[in-house]
Amino acid sequence: MNWLKKQKCGSVPVKQVPAHIGIIMDGNGRWAKKRGLPRSAGHSAGAETFKKIVQYCSKIGLKHLTVYAFSTENWRRPAAEVTFLMGLFEQYLNDALKDFEQRNIKVVFLGDKSAFSPNLQRLIADIEQVSQSKTGMVLNVAMNYGGRSEIIRAAKAIASDVKDGKLSVEAIDEKVFADKLYTEGQPDPDLIIRPSGEKRLSNFLLWQSAYTEFVFMNVLWPDFSEKDLDLAIDEYAARNRRFGGV
Ligand code: FPP
Repeated sequence: MNWLKKQKCGSVPVKQVPAHIGIIMDGNGRWAKKRGLPRSAGHSAGAETFKKIVQYCSKIGLKHLTVYAFSTENWRRPAAEVTFLMGLFEQYLNDALKDFEQRNIKVVFLGDKSAFSPNLQRLIADIEQVSQSKTGMVLNVAMNYGGRSEIIRAAKAIASDVKDGKLSVEAIDEKVFADKLYTEGQPDPDLIIRPSGEKRLSNFLLWQSAYTEFVFMNVLWPDFSEKDLDLAIDEYAARNRRFGGV
């Protein structure tokens, strides 16, 4: 089982931790509805869970965590919900800046940032700049991210390199392509977890998830706990990954 890394971190006993976990943070709306609350309350509760799970992942020694916070399709939601979410991102990322620093977390944003308000764009740039030299966990925050648009963006960048004579068509391979993705230089996710009971990828890490293991869970994101993450990792650890071999 050489794809599993045995790690020891803090008070957490030696355990098998995948190198890269992706999480589709789903179920905020249903969590709120169940309680007779507005959807915004579900997003606020989901943001607290985001904070808790980032801290836990860093503590157990995970090397890369990618969270799906806002898809290229999420702009279709009612304007008030989109505005609320943008405010929440600003608030949480601002608050988390110090925490990321203390925990030696490097933050990378996956997605097209140009659609965000100037304030949010500035905050994102500040966080990326401050955390650039960090050597602990890499936290990828997918915001205004879509797997298909990421692939098109990579294809355009490659086409442009070919046009400019910087790259020959024959030299295009999987490595060249992967290096044009937002996740450039990072390993593919070993495990993607989707809480909330939905069983689909929803345009998340399409290229990178070619050989990813999926764990779907019935818990709604605001209720997702450290224990749920442990359960998902245990399920992953019991899988037999063959990467197309035998
Ligand atoms: C999907 O649940 C959730 C989102 C589109 C927003 C995710 C955002 C957070 C968890 C906030 C914290 C993130 C950061 C980076 C601070 P849904 O609303 O689609 O739930 P539903 O399917 O039950 O309606």
